[in-house]
Amino acid sequence: MRFPKHAVLVTALMTGASLAAPVFAQQQAAASAQPSSESGAEARAEALVKAMTLEEKLQLVHSYFPPLAKPQPPIAMIPSAGHVPGIPRLGIPTLRESDASLGVANQIEQRKGDVATALPASIATAATFNPRLAYEGGAMIGAEARAKTFNILLAGGVNLTRDPWNGRNFEYLGEDPLLAGVMAGAHIKGVQSNAIVSTIKHFALNSQETGRTVLDARIDRAALRESDLLAFQIATEIGKPASVMCAYNKVNGDYACENDWLLNTVLKKDWGYKGWVMSDWGAVHSTQKAANNGLDQDSGQELDDAMYFDKALAAAVKDGSVPMARLDDMVQRILFGVIDSGLMDRPVPDSAQPIDYAAHAQVAQRAAEEGIVLLKNEGNLLPLTKTAKKIVLIGAHADVGVLSGGGSSQVRSVGGAPVEIPLTEGAAASFARITWHASSPLQAIRALAPQASVTYLDGSDPKAAARAVRGADMAIVFAWAWRTEAQDPESMALPDKQDALIDAVAAANAKTLVVLESGGPVLMPWVDRVSAILSAWYPGQRGGEAIARILLGEVDPSGRLPITFPASVDQAPRSEPAGLAELHAANARRKAGDKTIYGMSGGVAPFTVDYPEGADVGYRWYAAKQRKPLFPFGYGLTYTRFSYANLKIAGGAGLTVGFDVTNTGKRAGADVPQVYVEAKSAAGTRAYRLAGFEKVSLSPGETRHVSVTIDPRVIARFDESAPGWKVDAGAYPVVVGRFAGDTALKGTATLDALSARP
Ligand code: BGC
Repeated sequence: MRFPKHAVLVTALMTGASLAAPVFAQQQAAASAQPSSESGAEARAEALVKAMTLEEKLQLVHSYFPPLAKPQPPIAMIPSAGHVPGIPRLGIPTLRESDASLGVANQIEQRKGDVATALPASIATAATFNPRLAYEGGAMIGAEARAKTFNILLAGGVNLTRDPWNGRNFEYLGEDPLLAGVMAGAHIKGVQSNAIVSTIKHFALNSQETGRTVLDARIDRAALRESDLLAFQIATEIGKPASVMCAYNKVNGDYACENDWLLNTVLKKDWGYKGWVMSDWGAVHSTQKAANNGLDQDSGQELDDAMYFDKALAAAVKDGSVPMARLDDMVQRILFGVIDSGLMDRPVPDSAQPIDYAAHAQVAQRAAEEGIVLLKNEGNLLPLTKTAKKIVLIGAHADVGVLSGGGSSQVRSVGGAPVEIPLTEGAAASFARITWHASSPLQAIRALAPQASVTYLDGSDPKAAARAVRGADMAIVFAWAWRTEAQDPESMALPDKQDALIDAVAAANAKTLVVLESGGPVLMPWVDRVSAILSAWYPGQRGGEAIARILLGEVDPSGRLPITFPASVDQAPRSEPAGLAELHAANARRKAGDKTIYGMSGGVAPFTVDYPEGADVGYRWYAAKQRKPLFPFGYGLTYTRFSYANLKIAGGAGLTVGFDVTNTGKRAGADVPQVYVEAKSAAGTRAYRLAGFEKVSLSPGETRHVSVTIDPRVIARFDESAPGWKVDAGAYPVVVGRFAGDTALKGTATLDALSARP
């Protein structure tokens, strides 16, 4: 088998071309004919390093955290995540860093009145299974960042969802390395199309938020390569992020930002990564060890226990414990990223520029519309007919807006925040508020259903809600579950007695729809008692409009779950975050008046988290344990129907899977056929793995032939002793299905043996 270049693969996906072998071959030839800009960037970076003084070099390897920086740097800072003063005499620009997972962030409105376009949560973008939308979202954010004079975006979150309760799942792209890698790569490519830098983060295994700065994540190395690292690798190849952000946690005993194996061996040696490694904010714990083990830049230095890459690094270089050659390499990598991304030659404007927010809102709306997943639709309750007379909306502030996730990704969206609830305790309290974007489902539904009486109740009184929905053509309960960076929920149940509210409404009206606004799965004890369920995730600043258009059938739902929804918490590998005992002990000490300065760890004592499931993340875990989830990975309904036929498998030195998709229903719609291949991991477990997918829009009766070329790494095992990827010669079961576990078409691929570099 040969290894396809992912850059080519995603181009095909983004242009809507099918991944047919001829297209692939042509594009591969075109790509290899182009001269490499990388060598030019490397040579320019090298020349600059030679021209720099020691002070100038040291200036580039740490960033200020604007809210805490003392003394202030010479060039004014924008209140945001980070700032690195430039070197005007060499044309090196000042680096202005902003969070940007879902839009140009402005947490707790640190820049009063500075709004930006808010995309849906990344998990919603993953649910589109459409890399083109991920690219468009990234390009939109990059354009706004540029217009606001930011040039480094802290985007590209691609940690795999290992636990359904992880507080930050909404900022990531689901549980599968191929899907997450392709979507993150497209997003990063979109950001950097504006000649600015995007990171990819958080490298690696920052898989829970509880105790994230002290925990030690333990996993088998080969399993990590086959799962989380594969997502990073694919995304890095496609998106070419100029920077990689290392994570807070330890991985197998060493902090990620001073982890020789992760940074030097995997990233820089095995993957040949030429950009720079920046730390997460407050994730640095040493000077010499961090610098020598691969960290190139200390971010938000004021958040560390000490400023490790400031005077301490100067001293270490002087005494030789960090070689000058290593400092040169750190600087070279930063400059390579700055040049290769285009930032050096196309500097961002000096002052803020106008932004076409109306056009950008359309980008947010398209992503929301394609990311919403229809989970249940008994008796075709949806779409709502245009003859409906009475529609009752209940709960979740659906009269004024839609919920968003909290933390560093928080965007102050165009239109502001109609509801904003500050936190009184918890690790997120200092930088997160429970925030609704101004996008009213009530108004949007009214606009599309002018014939109906559409009313809203806040849901605080279940009896009143039950009375109000009697005789309605549809009762729509908006259910919400807020998630944030820095905290994991201790329960996956809906908060605020919403289960009882849903039960009361469903008992009063059989035509009850639940619209879920959440960062991932929640428990649904009422699943059999409601007729329809729509997962809207956190749908962004046009979420209300997107929900309304799906409800009224203006848009066919085409989202698919990028993450398994468990039936109960004990189905998942871990039913709750590790370290809860340590977290509770720290909270109790604080409440009892312990005035210790807790720093980033909040006083939580170190603990370990084991990932014995290894590479069998998400749907592979459920299959291995024979657990039937509530809704499987890849699942999602439409208003039409699709059938698959004519499976063609070409094996040998490569693997291409082709088949026909037909829209057999009466409406136009989009499907996401998924190819799964059964393969063996390094740990010896066998599992069906997502090996390819394509989003196909079809008119009623239309048939399209889809051909998917498989990246062998998604079906290979990683051999740490080589190190490298191995595919054993032999027969591999292949299925084409609508979701993990579905077997609409079945076949077998016969493959040659493959050994390839890591
Ligand atoms: C988060 C990063 C973020 C950084 C800067 C950290 O707490 O983990 O994702 O980019 O803060 O705001």
